[in-house]
Amino acid sequence: MSFYLTTPIYYVNSTPHIGHAYTTLAADILVRHHAQRGEDTFFLTGTDEHASKVYRVAEAEGIDAKTYVDRIAEKWRELPERVDAEIDFFIRTTDEEHKRFVQEFVQRIYDNGDIYEDTYTGLYCVGCEAFKNEDELVDGKCPEHDTVPEWIEEKNYFFRLSAYQERLLALYDERPSFVQPDFRYNEARSFIASGLQDFSLSRAGQPWGVPIPWDPEQVVYVWVDALINYLSALTYARPGEDLRERYWPHVRHLIGKDILRFHCVFWPALLLAAGYEVPQQIFVHGYLLLDERKISKSRGNVIDALDLVDVYGSDALRYWATRSVQFGQDGSVSVDSVHERYERELGNDLGNLVSRTTAMIAKYRDGAIQIAPGRGDDAAIERLAAEVSSRLDAFDLTGALDQIWEFVRGLNKFVTDAKPWELAKEEANAAELDQVLYALADGLRAAAIALNAYLPQTTPQILRALGQPDDVAWSGVAPRRTVEAYGVEASPPLFPRVEAPAAAA
Ligand code: MSP
Repeated sequence: MSFYLTTPIYYVNSTPHIGHAYTTLAADILVRHHAQRGEDTFFLTGTDEHASKVYRVAEAEGIDAKTYVDRIAEKWRELPERVDAEIDFFIRTTDEEHKRFVQEFVQRIYDNGDIYEDTYTGLYCVGCEAFKNEDELVDGKCPEHDTVPEWIEEKNYFFRLSAYQERLLALYDERPSFVQPDFRYNEARSFIASGLQDFSLSRAGQPWGVPIPWDPEQVVYVWVDALINYLSALTYARPGEDLRERYWPHVRHLIGKDILRFHCVFWPALLLAAGYEVPQQIFVHGYLLLDERKISKSRGNVIDALDLVDVYGSDALRYWATRSVQFGQDGSVSVDSVHERYERELGNDLGNLVSRTTAMIAKYRDGAIQIAPGRGDDAAIERLAAEVSSRLDAFDLTGALDQIWEFVRGLNKFVTDAKPWELAKEEANAAELDQVLYALADGLRAAAIALNAYLPQTTPQILRALGQPDDVAWSGVAPRRTVEAYGVEASPPLFPRVEAPAAAA
């Protein structure tokens, strides 16, 4: 089984912020989880470099666009590393291989007769890099960017999107989970049902972009260029290999709600027009809001994800982002809540439990874990495995994590109720103490494997502290897999105390 997941490719007109980090880390959690289940995974992210706004920033700085993007792309390459995302390939739309592929792709559509020449007269929002209708504006401004769109009139090549309306509706009817969550499916479907208009697939009078093969005076519209990355990457990510057959039929796109139409409407139509299969699924997540506002550069209230990582570590950021806001919905977050969750949940619920468990094994059993089943809640571990994987199949990162946390809290309650420190006082309770310590070790081991996709740095430390093999295969989220261990020592805190930073907003 293959699992190919993509993030949007990010615009390089500014540097990464927490919103971009959010999509990237969420995608990484999903990919790691599928890899734990033994699937053949591929994870793609990268940068969208041919936007006019990118060109304008470079012009304003008085440098050549390529020099500008080469420099800023380095900042974007760091984003997956900073959130500990294990990507398979980082695509840049200025890659020569990508540009060639884009030309082939649009040529195929042209040859199939779905591209024609016409004049575009209307509005264009450079922030969205999108053509706008009057009815999409609020007080004459783009509501997303709070700017007045530009009026443009230019000769363009148009894509016959209108011809795909029926096929798209049929696709949506056949595949009710094509777009998730359901309310996003409904949003996309009703947009299609309301009638589709052809759109410009090229831009004139701008030198920055991929030249239209049959008319090199024009460049491919940046959104078309960008969407094609998901496919082009498979042709050159691994030199000498064409991965399209292996991964394309299994592709899933993870996107934010701002770019739903491009992915759920334009992209499948473009693929059909070029003779490719449409994606397996598109999952649309919401916005992370800071004090009810989108955390973004244009609003001037960016909280820098990279700074939070420096203070709390990437595991804590991954945990906080997926735990705080129901994945798929919008939700407010504050910098203070990172600190709170770090101390209360990671530090107390999980970190202390590991410290206490290992300390008791060291103290009462001289560091040995004996195989002593009998007190563990085996059914709870079995339920955990099933519930977490089924939620992650549905992209419910928050629900899956809630299940794991309930389990961790269950273990804490078990320690409080079983009182191993009392049992340790009487030699007569030795067998029961062994059982309690084994149950704790086994529960923690299963929890660590279940949490591995979320906390890839910390969970191997938990397994090591318990003297368990460094194996995070999902089959390990099962009861009584803990092996005999010796030399277990009291583990130092997994989430040491940190100074809370001043709120960045
Ligand atoms: N370049 C296009 C995408 C092309 S994909 C073929 C683009 N880039 S972007 O840099 O603006 O990034 C958009 C994506 O970043 C969103 O779809 C979303 O995934 C993520 N986010 C940016 N800000 C966000 C929040 N505040 N909250 C959550 N995610 C948001 O659009």
